[in-house]
Amino acid sequence: MIRRWKTLFEPYRIKAVEPLGFASTAERERALHAAAYNVFHVPAETVLIDLLTDSGTSAMSGEQWAALMRGDEAYAGSRSFETFQKAVRELTGYREVIPAHQGRAAEHILFSVLGGPGKVFLANAHFETTRGNIEATGAKAIDLPAPEAADPANPSPFKGDIDTRALERAIGEHGAANIPLAIMTVTNNTAAGQPVSMRNLREASEICAKHKIPLFLDAARFAENAYLVKKRETGYAARAAAETAREMFSLAQGCWMSAKKDGLAHIGGFLALKDKALADRAREAMVLFEGFPTYGGLAGRDLEAIARGLSEVLDDDYLEHRLRLIEFFSERMRAAKVPIVEPPGGHAVFVDAKAFLPHIPPEQLPASALAGAAYRTGGVRGAAMGNFLRLAVPRRAYTQSHLEYVAEVFSEIAAQKDLVRGLKRVGEAKGMGVLFARLEPV
Ligand SMILES: Cc1ncc(COP(=O)(O)O)c(C=O)c1O
Repeated sequence: MIRRWKTLFEPYRIKAVEPLGFASTAERERALHAAAYNVFHVPAETVLIDLLTDSGTSAMSGEQWAALMRGDEAYAGSRSFETFQKAVRELTGYREVIPAHQGRAAEHILFSVLGGPGKVFLANAHFETTRGNIEATGAKAIDLPAPEAADPANPSPFKGDIDTRALERAIGEHGAANIPLAIMTVTNNTAAGQPVSMRNLREASEICAKHKIPLFLDAARFAENAYLVKKRETGYAARAAAETAREMFSLAQGCWMSAKKDGLAHIGGFLALKDKALADRAREAMVLFEGFPTYGGLAGRDLEAIARGLSEVLDDDYLEHRLRLIEFFSERMRAAKVPIVEPPGGHAVFVDAKAFLPHIPPEQLPASALAGAAYRTGGVRGAAMGNFLRLAVPRRAYTQSHLEYVAEVFSEIAAQKDLVRGLKRVGEAKGMGVLFARLEPV
């Protein structure tokens, strides 16, 4: 319905509000210093517009809050599990449904069963927790992104695709018997949230079928992928996102999902698949670290919120607004002369910090330097990812004017960007570098 109008308006009205954190520049300066120039460690209260992640940060609907009250907290076989299972089955078409406390927990369960030394997993790109969970078992994770993904300025519509020729080659090289799964991450978070085309997904599915390798989706942002297909791929414009989403799942044998993104929930995830024997092994494996297979580390109320979220997210008006908001944000950033990864994907605008701050060499961490500058200048928080600063947009939480403000902050930074200084690491970063890095200005 909102596609018919030029005005970009939210397809909902606001029922509850949360004040923003108006810290002073001096307060933010102090907080940044105390956080060793790593915005992951500043108090969230001092952040005005928080674009650190779109994960677990959605605004839930009135119906989702109401669903929380319907939560059945029975330890085993709760009514809320039935509701959850039905919603996941209807969406994916997969019978076996295993809840988990978030996406990486579902990955942990799956790869603890399928991984191990000598095993190889192939994907358009593995998200970092996927790679971490695979490598923790001694197996190898190989990314096979489409060549266009390497050029941030290339405006190709489906830079999340897998390189199908490289997929064929890798299967030949490693042997199908050593490849328990191939993976398509939709949208492709590691490749700047770029979508995967249905054509590419179908080709990957056919190649996998030929070699008898199951194909799984990492479906964290399946709805955004489906809507980007509607907008960009020939033949899909007239279809509802829900129909395209079902077609996506039909091309794979299973999936896992972080429900903190397109589940519109604050916590949760799941594994869903066709193979009952594999599902039973996963159920046995999960008991020690997630819990009984009908709750999987979640409260009954969380299962209810996700079940509801999975249908709300496929509303075409919601998705039209979401993707037009990202486009609007991108346009304003371009107008502020900020180089971004083109075309924008479904959940974030990625600033090419290396291109934006050419006076800061990559070893002086231009993306982290820019993250500090955005926080200091306007209380805007993003996440440094390699040479990019990801400005992820939480779902239903911020409006067009909030993002207009963010672009204004970047325009101010652009006007005096020579003043942004590079950073260097101090001490050893433990675990996942970006989360725990301690930095100081060069
Ligand atoms: C594509 C993808 N897969 C998996 C995950 C892991 O999910 P979670 O954060 O719920 O553990 C994420 C989280 O950002 C993701 O983007």
